[in-house]
Amino acid sequence: MQSVHTPPELRSAFDAHFGTPAPALFVLSPGRINLIGEHIDYNNLSVLPMAIGRHVRLLVRPRADARVRIASLSAGFGAREFLLGREIPPYPVGDWGNYVKAAVQALARTHDGLHGFDAALDSTLPVAAGLSSSSALVIGVALALLGANGRTWDAVALAEEMAKAERYTGTQGGGMDQAICAGAVEGTASRVDFAPLRITPVPVPTDWRFVVAHSLSRAEKSGGAQATYNRRTVECREALSLVETRLTRGGSSGRGYRELLATYSAGELVEIGEQVLDGDLRKRFRHVVTEADRVRRAEVALRGSDLATFGTLLSASHVRLRDDYEVSSTALDELVAIADAAGAAGARLTGAGMGGCIIATAPARDVEGVLDHLRTEFYVPRAPAGPLGDHLFLADPAGGARVVELGQ
Ligand code: GLA
Repeated sequence: MQSVHTPPELRSAFDAHFGTPAPALFVLSPGRINLIGEHIDYNNLSVLPMAIGRHVRLLVRPRADARVRIASLSAGFGAREFLLGREIPPYPVGDWGNYVKAAVQALARTHDGLHGFDAALDSTLPVAAGLSSSSALVIGVALALLGANGRTWDAVALAEEMAKAERYTGTQGGGMDQAICAGAVEGTASRVDFAPLRITPVPVPTDWRFVVAHSLSRAEKSGGAQATYNRRTVECREALSLVETRLTRGGSSGRGYRELLATYSAGELVEIGEQVLDGDLRKRFRHVVTEADRVRRAEVALRGSDLATFGTLLSASHVRLRDDYEVSSTALDELVAIADAAGAAGARLTGAGMGGCIIATAPARDVEGVLDHLRTEFYVPRAPAGPLGDHLFLADPAGGARVVELGQ
């Protein structure tokens, strides 16, 4: 049995809420940064995320009935309680409990005879920061339920199932976050391919560093950003359909972005987009096809330890996300500019944008300078509440979600 140190505050919260007997399982479910490949997973284009050593954590005790009780230590979250089943009525839109229900309902549909559980929950990940705390919660709850019922799982199949399950919350997300959370391998980033889902670890050179810097504005996946996010998915489909109609002279071959990119270069597709599309659709299309190309080149640079090229691709991605996809913000742009001026190899917003975090990459020898500039130019004037380490930190490539059985 693996020995593990469970956080004392989480254990106290468990005891206060649920009393004896003691919890039997500890679940660790990581957040992620996306190195590159933003807003293209829902177009079935490959992305390059990396799990980080900050987690949603659950202490879990199996129950003999169908009840699920879960108490969060995060301020303002409170506790939720409901019955497991194949049709679980949702909480109001935006309630964090819907991420719990999403996982439980989906598994109740595919697994017979599941019992519920009691769990205390906390997070070392900043919430609504674009670091995928919500998918970490969904995968964490899935592992809690399966672990509490003595069931096993396959990381890829579970990630695919939970990507669909999370749509219960109203966001039409792609599958990147669930895939990296469930399937990451320590010391690596992963190329994630879709339809069918595949997770290919790519080692991260040990002297590369990734800085995460929070813009101090929240990116609520189930809040205000949801409508913009969902609209982008529709715009991508519309742009694709117009381009396809033109390329097939009025017909449609049913090709997706991936098939188009197998036939035409990104540059050719940008030109086709200029002829066929106007306004926003032209810009969205340009981001998608060029981002897919940047992912391909970034993977080559990562495998070849070519940080200069990798960083340039990250910075180019940010420009497209800002100008063409229009999901950046003044604060995110400012963080990127500070990191660039401080000597980062590249910087970009990570995750869905519209608030949340940037990542900046630099060789180990330069990273202190980047951190220093971000600290003095962005955070000191704003004096955010809480420790600076909640907003500005280094992310190391971590492993995927796991369940640890606790000895009694
Ligand atoms: C969110 C979604 C992902 C992905 C990113 C943007 O994190 O959950 O599926 O679309 O936004 O790249």
